[in-house]
Amino acid sequence: MRVALTYNLIRSYMFRTGPLDRFAEYDSQETIAALVAAIEAGGHEITPLEADECIAEKLKAARPDIVFNIAEGLRGESRESHVPAICEMLGLPYTGSGPLTLALCLNKARTKEILTLYGIPTAPFQVFRSPHDALDSRLRWPLIVKLLHEGSSMGLSEHSVVDDEAALREQVAYLTQTYGEPCIVEEYIVGREFTVGVLGGNGTPRVLPIIEVRFKKARGIVLFEPDAPVIPLILQERGTDPEVEHVLHAANHHAICPADIDDELAQRIQDTAIRAFGALGCRDWCRMEMRQGSDNQLYVLELNPIAGIDPTYWLPRAARVAGLSYAEFVNEILGYALVRTGLA
Ligand SMILES: Nc1ncnc2c1ncn2[C@@H]1O[C@H](COP(=O)(O)OP(=O)(O)OP(=O)(O)O)[C@@H](O)[C@H]1O
Ligand SMILES: [Mg+2]
Repeated sequence: MRVALTYNLIRSYMFRTGPLDRFAEYDSQETIAALVAAIEAGGHEITPLEADECIAEKLKAARPDIVFNIAEGLRGESRESHVPAICEMLGLPYTGSGPLTLALCLNKARTKEILTLYGIPTAPFQVFRSPHDALDSRLRWPLIVKLLHEGSSMGLSEHSVVDDEAALREQVAYLTQTYGEPCIVEEYIVGREFTVGVLGGNGTPRVLPIIEVRFKKARGIVLFEPDAPVIPLILQERGTDPEVEHVLHAANHHAICPADIDDELAQRIQDTAIRAFGALGCRDWCRMEMRQGSDNQLYVLELNPIAGIDPTYWLPRAARVAGLSYAEFVNEILGYALVRTGLA
């Protein structure tokens, strides 16, 4: 097959000014090279295409049989849906979820509304457009303040979990001013955190070995990945900046896969993952997080239908625990899309 790989590349100049995590979701040259090698290993011919403003022209010129899409999008609250929408417009099959699912999953509030509709527990929440919005008094402290439509832990820091209204409003003011977008404020679930990869979706999806994220401190949250491939670029631009040191040292978690859990909990995590994958209409691949509350219930935090796919990231690592090499994992995703679109 002739496969086009669509992506958004991270570049060192992006870190010259502004918050370090502003472009954290974009991919590095190393990730693209690993994917190219993996897709070639599957016996395909591959054309890497940067998903910039000219991507429609590039796709028309390349005329691939299928697009392997990991593009996070350039701008806008539905930016992850742009490349799949263009593929649909051009009549090109592509891997992964469609524009509607990608737009919904990028908005944490919409995701949670849909999960709730399907009876899948998720932490109670409220959207804040301004630090002066009235607080819903039904929410129970502590709360966590996040950006409404971001991923890659963007906007999260040791100030994200708050215990009182003054701290909450300060964090909402900081995020809305710095990133220019609304916040989601939700109940902070105290308990174990699990990350779950799901593959497939043409039939019953396949749940990869469950990852538990362990924190060094109480009330931990997943912050910047200490070994993310973007870190050399950040150091190149801002290596002498004290903020860099602070952010890189803030990472306080590590992952264990397979998680050390009993069969009953594993089964519940798998069932929840499959239900959430279906509720949001995900296809081919997704990574999601959930926490086990003090009431023993599993609360889904969010879904990442274009999860980080660098070989060092959690999803490929969980695939490896399941016995899949990186190339096998990537070609399994491609294979689901080929079957779904009638190409295989
Ligand atoms: N309601 C919550 N209760 C407890 N912890 C939370 C909650 N929401 C978020 N967190 C913590 O913050 C981390 C990041 O939150 P979330 O997954 O919503 O953001 P993200 O930036 O989209 O993540 P990703 O890096 O997976 O794209 C979670 O992995 C978890 O550790
Ligand atoms: Mg997350």
